[in-house]
Amino acid sequence: MRSSPWLFEEFPELEGKVPWTPLGDFPTPVQKLDKLSSREGICEVWVKRDDRSSELYGGNKVRKLEFTLADAAARGKRYVLTYGGIGSNHALATTIHSRRLGLKAILILFPQPVTRHVQENLLLDAHFGAELILAKNSLEAALKTLWQIVTKRSVYVLPLGGSTALGALGFVDAMLELRRQIDAGEVPEPRKIFLALGTGGTMAGLLVGAKLAGLDSQVVGVRVTSSRIGNERKVANLANRVVRLLKRHSESIPDLRFSPSDVSVVHGFYGPGYGVPTPECVEAAKIVREAEGIRLDLTYTAKAFAALLSEARSGAEGPLLFWNTFNSVDLSALAERQDPRSLPKEFQAFFEGEPSF
Ligand SMILES: Cc1ncc(COP(=O)(O)O)c(C=O)c1O
Repeated sequence: MRSSPWLFEEFPELEGKVPWTPLGDFPTPVQKLDKLSSREGICEVWVKRDDRSSELYGGNKVRKLEFTLADAAARGKRYVLTYGGIGSNHALATTIHSRRLGLKAILILFPQPVTRHVQENLLLDAHFGAELILAKNSLEAALKTLWQIVTKRSVYVLPLGGSTALGALGFVDAMLELRRQIDAGEVPEPRKIFLALGTGGTMAGLLVGAKLAGLDSQVVGVRVTSSRIGNERKVANLANRVVRLLKRHSESIPDLRFSPSDVSVVHGFYGPGYGVPTPECVEAAKIVREAEGIRLDLTYTAKAFAALLSEARSGAEGPLLFWNTFNSVDLSALAERQDPRSLPKEFQAFFEGEPSF
């Protein structure tokens, strides 16, 4: 585990002012997908293996949590309250990594289509000690949040996806990491970088990071959530908040300003809804698994990869880089050993009948 982020190496004045604690294994590897490219007859494709960002539980959340959980701990909080769908990877990542810092997770979760992956994550949330609270809508979530804050007091509230400006710093740092890998000759500078766009923290951080790292790669967010949650305006606003946060602590951060037209979002791969697989994403997940042995999830990464594949198949020039934001630590055996009856009553309904896929 590294002792400080690349961000503090490049901008030493941030150290001591911006909270940070090591949680992940960085840098994550970069890998060329040769077999995929030759099978498909497409350009050079690379993957940034953030799925391997932690041996405990990887994926894109670890980078954000290194900043946000450090903040919670520095403020002396005992609880971290966050939100997500009942199968949220962010909720599970927050639960697992909070525990390492002695913080207890409180999860306010919304119903979503029930899949085996969703059931697994719910069981794992409970196993790793999270308090689970169901909310049917945002009003109910707000009231339940208020209740938790009033009764427990020492609560750090992390919004959906952990996408605060502080959390997004994890992906500013990630771009500085990629720059180093390019400089070391491990990977060519990508023409485009594809990633799944949910609440936008990952994309906003990468956009700011690309500017600070002097990279010309175009960052392409593939929307996998409703356009109310993930869109060009939200990502630009968050990127501007990230810049303001950095500038508050460092005079050497340049004046950067993002408008929605600077944010490149692909909208056509979302399909009928959040967490609902599309034929394109099922095909993309199968192709990557068979060609390269890389497992993608059907809610986020397979939809994003389907967009990359479609562009590559239409004759796009490479190199393209896919930022793999999914966790690849397989906790399914552990989940299988958990009893759904140990969950709070209102969550047990999600285990009745067969999951949809
Ligand atoms: C696997 C995966 N990829 C991508 C995302 C989206 O990241 P962001 O919310 O920063 O846009 C998430 C969010 O939960 C995720 O779980």
